[in-house]
Amino acid sequence: MSPLDAPRTAAWSGKEVRSARDLAINGAPPMFSQPLHVGRPNIGSHERFLQYARDILERQWLSNNGPLAQQLEREIAQYLGVQHCIAMCNGTIALEIAIRALGLKGEVIVPSYTFVATAHALQWQEITPIFADIDPVTHNLDPDAVRRMITPRTTGILGVHLWGRAAPVEPLQAIADEHGLALMFDASHGFACSFGGRLIGGFGRCEAFSFHATKFFNSFEGGAVVTNDDALAEKMRLMRNFGFAGYDNVIYPGTNGKITEIAAAMGLTNLAQLDEFVAANRANYQTYSRELTDVPGLRLLAYDTRERNNFQYVVVEVDEQFPASRDRIVEVLHAENILARKYFWPGCHNMQPYRAYYPHAGLMLPNTIAVADRVVVLPTGSSMDSAHVRGVSQVLRALSRGSLAA
Ligand SMILES: Cc1ncc(COP(=O)(O)O)c(C=O)c1O
Repeated sequence: MSPLDAPRTAAWSGKEVRSARDLAINGAPPMFSQPLHVGRPNIGSHERFLQYARDILERQWLSNNGPLAQQLEREIAQYLGVQHCIAMCNGTIALEIAIRALGLKGEVIVPSYTFVATAHALQWQEITPIFADIDPVTHNLDPDAVRRMITPRTTGILGVHLWGRAAPVEPLQAIADEHGLALMFDASHGFACSFGGRLIGGFGRCEAFSFHATKFFNSFEGGAVVTNDDALAEKMRLMRNFGFAGYDNVIYPGTNGKITEIAAAMGLTNLAQLDEFVAANRANYQTYSRELTDVPGLRLLAYDTRERNNFQYVVVEVDEQFPASRDRIVEVLHAENILARKYFWPGCHNMQPYRAYYPHAGLMLPNTIAVADRVVVLPTGSSMDSAHVRGVSQVLRALSRGSLAA
């Protein structure tokens, strides 16, 4: 079954919102009978996955660098055009292993406007994440802000390709070279996205992906580090497997970062259908774009049409012109069973332990704070179609008329 044939559980009620009385928040039935989630998984052919699963059971090789894990690594490396793919059990461990393999210590510069795992992967290893501000237009690290945060203790820069739009790769590389810092990327959002026509994966010393269920490309849970550096790749392979270089031969301190065969099976299944997932996401994005284009106070985050993107994130910025606050929008949508999300609010610097360690970090992060306060992410994915998107958009358009804002 193709993902586009998959059952659509979030049935649209067909409701029209004409007045405040039609809103679920005021007691009317919701727009959708089932919740419409942000990050609902993209799932490829069930039959292909089940065949992989049957093969795994027959082989009785469930983990420890099995044939499907190896195949997944080969196929990802080939797809991304990189020398090495080291598959992992999740994106957080992928980040942690990459950070350790690069020998980062002291302070590492990161955005605060990211999922907290980016900062935690450093803190977990007693490396201080130093939060630099973002560009309010791109939502990615601002190279000038990065420069301002460099101290004698800085050893690296950990950029994030937020929403699948590449971080400023070239200016960050120039800063890293000038100051002798290691540059790596958290590419968790960036699978199948390009920069300068090259797929994300080959930039910096290495890039870490998450294949979590909510990501564009998922393996239930999973992740990988990709790199063109042979020595770094070898180190990460050892680290991922307790430092084992062969039977009874431990030559390195390591952890357990291995991907299971069943996760690799899901990865291989989905890898074969990336184009379909992109097509479904792009169609949803285009419908949102049409539906919301003339709504004053709402701005849909644009993707660079010269680059490839996975369109996994439908990001809307709400400004003062809109008659309802961002938080009120989220509340109204949730009542309709549309589980829109405030993303990366309130910023890592406002989460623990960072908030306690650096209570004044916000002073250096005005753009992070402003963006985190105005972003709402709408549901998309291959289990949604244009009727769902129109249902979501209808609520937003109704809210924009002001009288329903309360
Ligand atoms: C930007 C970012 N970094 C890191 C992670 C952590 O990945 P995982 O959930 O696979 O550990 C995620 C997603 O969960 C993410 O969005």
